[in-house]
Amino acid sequence: MKALRCVELGPPEKLQISEVPDPEIIPGHVLIDNKAGSVNFPDVLMIQGLYQFQPELPFTPGGESAGIISAVGDGVENLKVGDRVFAMTGIGAFAEKIVVPEAAAVKIPYSMNFETAAALPMTYGTSLYALKQRGMLKEGETLLVLGAAGGVGLATVELGKAMGANVIAAASTQEKIDLCIEHGADQGFIYPVGKLDRAQQKELSSKIKELTNGAGPNVVYDPVGGSYSEPCLRSIAWEGRYLVIGFAAGADAIPKMPLNLTLLKGCQIVGVFWGAWVGMFPDDNKKNFEELFELHSEGKINPEVSDSFCLDDGSKAIAHLKDRKAKGKVIIKI
Ligand SMILES: NC(=O)c1ccc[n+]([C@@H]2O[C@H](COP(=O)([O-])OP(=O)(O)OC[C@H]3O[C@@H](n4cnc5c(N)ncnc54)[C@H](OP(=O)(O)O)[C@@H]3O)[C@@H](O)[C@H]2O)c1
Repeated sequence: MKALRCVELGPPEKLQISEVPDPEIIPGHVLIDNKAGSVNFPDVLMIQGLYQFQPELPFTPGGESAGIISAVGDGVENLKVGDRVFAMTGIGAFAEKIVVPEAAAVKIPYSMNFETAAALPMTYGTSLYALKQRGMLKEGETLLVLGAAGGVGLATVELGKAMGANVIAAASTQEKIDLCIEHGADQGFIYPVGKLDRAQQKELSSKIKELTNGAGPNVVYDPVGGSYSEPCLRSIAWEGRYLVIGFAAGADAIPKMPLNLTLLKGCQIVGVFWGAWVGMFPDDNKKNFEELFELHSEGKINPEVSDSFCLDDGSKAIAHLKDRKAKGKVIIKI
């Protein structure tokens, strides 16, 4: 079969398309003929050797895909040949076929196409867990989303709206803000690109205060980090929840927050690690996926697939995300 391979660590241009042996079915697993995979920020980090979990070289990147089951191993109970599923695997998705444990594959509704299914699990899974289980977002509260037109960002805009929040989108270009408004954000504003100096940080805090009539957002969703985080925490509302999602601005600039702010604001800084939670509480995650399917069937969420690439151009798909060009999700059609 054909697969996108990482044979040496480095930028996406180093990835190669290769012929590799088909994976063999083993007990408790299913074989999926992939139809689409989707790119996430961890793919960008992993191929460069910068992710918290590093597979041995050579490996096939790709954390999630959707397709049709073509074989089932002994002991598989709830899935059968012909089922349409998405799968979360961490690696291996950017290939024509993948073998995954039964528990990693989830049947998708007939109304959902493979591109949408591949785009859904990590971004919407993370964001629903973040807003519901970690952020306790309530109807009528104000939610500020940084990097709001990115994968997890846009999912959060839609879910925030579906949960009845007043959603403020923050992103680096007007085009990205327009997309967030199309997906339900109530307001949006542009922040500067690059490391913010003190004056720019103060301006960012003031802008957030201005848009919330001085009260500040109740929940801040931050997948960006860097110099953006502290001014956002400074603007948070009394008893606000600051959700730490990721560090797209760079692992070398992980923010260190002054703890006096949590005291002065009566607020919480809340870590969100969806993958670890899924491993510990798979049944709760299953319920969240059911809720996501319901929201999709009601038209309340609709993953934005802004760019799709064929498998031969898989390296370009990853470069697109790395270069901050992605809006919503980048898909690899297989
Ligand atoms: N905690 C969890 O469980 C969990 C789960 C999934 C993902 N994540 C993390 O969430 C973050 C976002 O993931 P994603 O898949 O949504 O990525 P994405 O689609 O690339 O979105 C990230 C956004 O961050 C902004 N950004 C700011 N500085 C950037 C920079 N130097 N390079 C690239 N983007 C930059 C960009 O928006 P602007 O151009 O508008 O600033 C971009 O749209 C990553 O750090 C990822 O590891 C965490």
